[in-house]
Amino acid sequence: MKIHHQNQSQRMPFAVLFVLLLPILSPHLFSPLSRSYPSLFSEWNAPKPRHLPLLKAALDRHVPVGEKNELWSPLPYQGWKPCIEPTTIHTLPTKSQGYIQVFLDGGLNQQRMGICDAVAVAKILNATLVIPHLEVNAVWQDTSSFADIFDVEHFIDTLSHDVAIVKEPPSEYSWSSREYYGTGIRATRIKTAPVHGSAEWYLENVLPVLQSYGIAAIAPFSHRLAFDKLPTNIQRLRCKVNFHALAFRSSYQRAWRYTH
Ligand SMILES: *[C@@H]1O[C@H](CO)[C@@H](O)[C@H](O)[C@H]1NC(C)=O
Repeated sequence: MKIHHQNQSQRMPFAVLFVLLLPILSPHLFSPLSRSYPSLFSEWNAPKPRHLPLLKAALDRHVPVGEKNELWSPLPYQGWKPCIEPTTIHTLPTKSQGYIQVFLDGGLNQQRMGICDAVAVAKILNATLVIPHLEVNAVWQDTSSFADIFDVEHFIDTLSHDVAIVKEPPSEYSWSSREYYGTGIRATRIKTAPVHGSAEWYLENVLPVLQSYGIAAIAPFSHRLAFDKLPTNIQRLRCKVNFHALAFRSSYQRAWRYTH
């Protein structure tokens, strides 16, 4: 016991020294992080483009009009068909368990998958989904919000019989914002969602937070829902989100037509 105590007291100064030296040893932990949001969380610590000259060259490259048209035109029919048709059985829960928020980083494809997963998680929990927040893309510096890219009304309408979706949290939860989670440790933030988590994980870990606080913000959320072993209705719903609910805003589609 005595020896143990001695060890402890000998270790203490080292621990203190280590903590004091931490900012020097790893200054990136303490430097102000992305933009105006000081973030404590590594996933929100946007990656820097590594090959700036390559990126710049790609952005500067002049793409001939014909090639651009080809880029944006739909792929030729290759015989693909949906493996799961959406059902007409509607199952909007009568009572919402609370509000689910997600903050999505990565590129547009990753964010798109995150949106499908967010709808699925809201469904698993019988929760109301707040329109996902898209983080600023570090490489492209893309500040587009969900509503800048996708047709929000179409999204909400298409899923209206499956999951309740709101554009913003209601006023009593207006404190639950990206800034709020970026500046401290908060009881309503779920930050331990495992990569490819199961439906059970969400029921065991997120539902209690919803039931206590009425809202839960899951971040990081990219790739946090399993592909397999989910109920068929959840898989169908994911397909419905990707292939039916997520439509680019018509202004985007027009812009492509004008510029190409
Ligand atoms: C969600 O609602 C369904 C149908 O009303 C019910 O069977 C299920 O237990 C509910 N789950 C939760 C987590 O509330």
